[in-house]
Amino acid sequence: MIYEVYIRSFADGDGDGVGDIAGLSSRLPYLAGLGVDAVWITPWYPSPMKDGGYDVADLRGIEPMFGTVAAAREMIAEAHDIGLRVLLDLVPNHLSDQHPWFQRALAAGPGSAERARFVFRGGRGPGDEPPNDWTSNFGGRAWTRVTETDGRPGEWYLHLFTPAQPDLDWTNHEVREEFERTMRFWFDLGVDGFRIDVAHGLVKAEGLPDLASIVRSEGAGARVDHPHWDRDEVHEIYRSWRALADSYNDPRVFIAEAWVQGPDRLARYVRADELHTAFNFDFLLAPWQAEAMRDSIAAALRAHEEVGAAPTWVLSNHDTIREVSRYARPQGVGPVRRLDDVIDLPADISIGRRRARAAALLMLALPGGAYVYQGEELGLAEVEDLPDDVLQDPGWEQSGHRYRGRDGCRVPLPWSGLEPPFGFSPPGARGAPCRDAQSVLALYRSGLRLRRAHPALGDGTLRWLEAPAGALAFARAPGFACIVNFTAEPVAPPVHSERLIASGPLDEDGRVPADTAVWLAL
Ligand code: NOJ
Repeated sequence: MIYEVYIRSFADGDGDGVGDIAGLSSRLPYLAGLGVDAVWITPWYPSPMKDGGYDVADLRGIEPMFGTVAAAREMIAEAHDIGLRVLLDLVPNHLSDQHPWFQRALAAGPGSAERARFVFRGGRGPGDEPPNDWTSNFGGRAWTRVTETDGRPGEWYLHLFTPAQPDLDWTNHEVREEFERTMRFWFDLGVDGFRIDVAHGLVKAEGLPDLASIVRSEGAGARVDHPHWDRDEVHEIYRSWRALADSYNDPRVFIAEAWVQGPDRLARYVRADELHTAFNFDFLLAPWQAEAMRDSIAAALRAHEEVGAAPTWVLSNHDTIREVSRYARPQGVGPVRRLDDVIDLPADISIGRRRARAAALLMLALPGGAYVYQGEELGLAEVEDLPDDVLQDPGWEQSGHRYRGRDGCRVPLPWSGLEPPFGFSPPGARGAPCRDAQSVLALYRSGLRLRRAHPALGDGTLRWLEAPAGALAFARAPGFACIVNFTAEPVAPPVHSERLIASGPLDEDGRVPADTAVWLAL
């Protein structure tokens, strides 16, 4: 299981109210005790923090707020000593506008080698219209016009995210070399791999055609030929990175963050000579309904099997609404990725929490790897009532305050006690974590312990079992079955045998109640 650490809000070691490397170091034993195999740390590089650190100003440094390179090296060694691997976040699609490369590009002017590392273009018409109709992921257009050194309005640069995140041009060999240097730097420091940010976005279609010119194919396997998402040309980059990782004696791995259209497109990223794994966001987006879940699982298993890669499962991350709050809403209303997608729908958090517990056991029973986002193991819900003036997600400003964004899943982690800062910052509140959190934690601990010990769990295959309507059941060899009830009524398990663990109590007839999962020994 890989555990995501959103560094700013995981644990604060120096008492400045912001999470840091010292805080993470102090909590490594907790992670090892939970049953984590590897931690993925979100960007910890020097950054103006215009997008939570995904605006990197120095690829081979550490943000002073988080610590130092020496502290990072020490933390990695400590993690290795207790059996944890360490993965970093590589952000290759863009840099911060404060990165020296971009500053030099601004100074050097049109046509320069410095500008060729980014995507600078002249405007349309007399130059005052953006070069094309692309839009930023956070709202508004994806182009910003610069003021040239003579004070006149000049070229435009592309930013698929905030204006503070200029996109790099991956046809430029200096860009490629810089990222290879960066990967080697961190690998040499002991890092075991990278999660690749926006892995589906690096290559832009030649000529930067308008979105309005998109080609949609028809029939089976139909897809959109998008000018900047999931272009076939990205795969050549990943083949070269794989060769770099494989040049190390001990294995170094890559995880793709690729929001693409369906499991077959995703599987292309994990072909044998490309990346090792990719987040399975279709599973995350599937509603809490038996058929949708089963379809999503079956499609992912099939697509991964075709390329010989292990599937992975994820229920949330720092960009998505926490699953407790997602499952608390009416299901099947359309894809739910962020709080803003469901903020107006009624929520029953106790139902959400029950479903999230069941989803955890479902996820941990499936073949392949699993990702847990910090706080998921505590059953945390999204914080939906943050005051406007504390919102930091660039989406809030860029959407003209229409979208509240992702801050509700990025608040400091509560570690202990009943009052702020809940053990997040020193000296650390005393006392036990609240009972509810502890019971979810106990479920994760037991589930992960069983998953390690049981020969049927982890990598492998599954066999679907006949299940009552609205339930899902599968067996894994040797001797394991998982049953999940998605309905509001109890169901009898299709097989009767010893119970290993359940996400909630079974009823007196041994039936699986609403929104409950159970593992059985066959
Ligand atoms: C995906 C990251 O997870 C997200 O937090 C970030 O805003 C974008 N990529 C841009 O880097």
